[in-house]
Amino acid sequence: MERMELEAQIKEITKALGGALKNLGLYPENHPLVQKTIAQAYDLITSLLESLNELALAIVDETLVFEGTPLFQLTSSLELFIKSLGECGIEALVFHRGLKKSELESFISILHANRGSILSEQKVRNLFQIEDIKKIVVVTVEKDKEPDDLSAAKEIYENAISAVTAAMNDIRLGKIPSGSESRKVVQDMSGMLKKNQDAMLALTMIKNYDEYTYTHSVNVGVISLTIAESLSLSESEKIDIGVAGLLHDVGKTQVALDLIRKPSTLTLEEFEEIKKHPDEGHRILIEMEFINPVSGKIVREHHMGFDLSGYPKIEPGYKMEPYSQIVSIADCYDALSTLRTYQKPRTPKESLEVMTKMAGKSLDPAMVKVLIKILGIYPIGTMVKLDTDEVAVVSAQNTEDSARPKVIVLTDAEGRNLDFPVHIDLIEKDPKTGKFNRSIVTTVNPLLENANPSRSVA
Ligand SMILES: [Fe+2]
Ligand SMILES: [Fe+2]
Repeated sequence: MERMELEAQIKEITKALGGALKNLGLYPENHPLVQKTIAQAYDLITSLLESLNELALAIVDETLVFEGTPLFQLTSSLELFIKSLGECGIEALVFHRGLKKSELESFISILHANRGSILSEQKVRNLFQIEDIKKIVVVTVEKDKEPDDLSAAKEIYENAISAVTAAMNDIRLGKIPSGSESRKVVQDMSGMLKKNQDAMLALTMIKNYDEYTYTHSVNVGVISLTIAESLSLSESEKIDIGVAGLLHDVGKTQVALDLIRKPSTLTLEEFEEIKKHPDEGHRILIEMEFINPVSGKIVREHHMGFDLSGYPKIEPGYKMEPYSQIVSIADCYDALSTLRTYQKPRTPKESLEVMTKMAGKSLDPAMVKVLIKILGIYPIGTMVKLDTDEVAVVSAQNTEDSARPKVIVLTDAEGRNLDFPVHIDLIEKDPKTGKFNRSIVTTVNPLLENANPSRSVA
């Protein structure tokens, strides 16, 4: 049976089951309308089970999934069926051959009677046993790995925010913090990047504007480390680069807060004051325990620029640490793609375009290339418009074709937010025509659109 035909039949089945549930909410069990819809569902299931050994359906994120593919085009009956399963605490169920109509009737009655109860799997099994339901089996869904990685990445990100906040607070109080916490969170980030780079990088795309200094520090740490991970460096060198990224702006604690937060352009004197932060940062880092001197040197040099046109100004013959270029690139990318009072945020794609223009001048061209290779043409978090007029957010890269990443569709063609964000792989083709199902037409700026990319990762 063709996949599409199969999906259509499954939709019919769930629609009929939802219809039966709806009728059961209105009429008694023996009412002809209830009986009719159950008989309809029963006929559809048994006919499908003639060609399939079993019919396994799962509910993942409130979406019906068959053999790993979500089934959309929700009708109210289908939705009711899914909701009822969820409200009974059923994550997945399998219909087996030899199903009796009485079993289906009892199953529907159980669903109806227990809505809102969130039963344990064991309790559902007990109810099935009492009603002698043998050919419908409740199973626990094996969650796919991504949500777990994302929550693990979120925890690491939060720990990094705490580490950098605590360090900066200590410094403001005149204390020199220990570097052990910073080192540990960077080691955790490194582990996560190796396991699921997309999950860790995705978090740098959610900009928290209230806590700019801290989120910016963590983002620069993550991006610096991601670049370092892609180069053949030793583990300890990578950690030193990540730590430098995380702590690159700690010297700003020595600059008056109102200057750091000033919404308008700085005067020359004010800018001279800001320019002190790399040296201040260096002074602090070299005093911190568990921090290698190279991290301190990187912090001092993060605004020097590839062509040495930046600050602080250096003596002739000065030799820059090559890893400083990595943190400069990460710093530049995060700053460009963030909304600031004096700058509209650029989309990730626009930020990379600006950086390409800076390559060879203030930015190291080789490192810009590395970053573009890592982030792809459409970096994670980029909002895109598809040829279906839907708006989506890039959720993962496709190594085979960077122009066709995986996306999460957020709004329909009319711009309405979807109730269930739909996960799509843009590399998928229509088997009949051989054409791509969807393609990216353009990138869109989330702040100018009605869609919120953080919905997909929140
Ligand atoms: Fe800085
Ligand atoms: Fe910075």
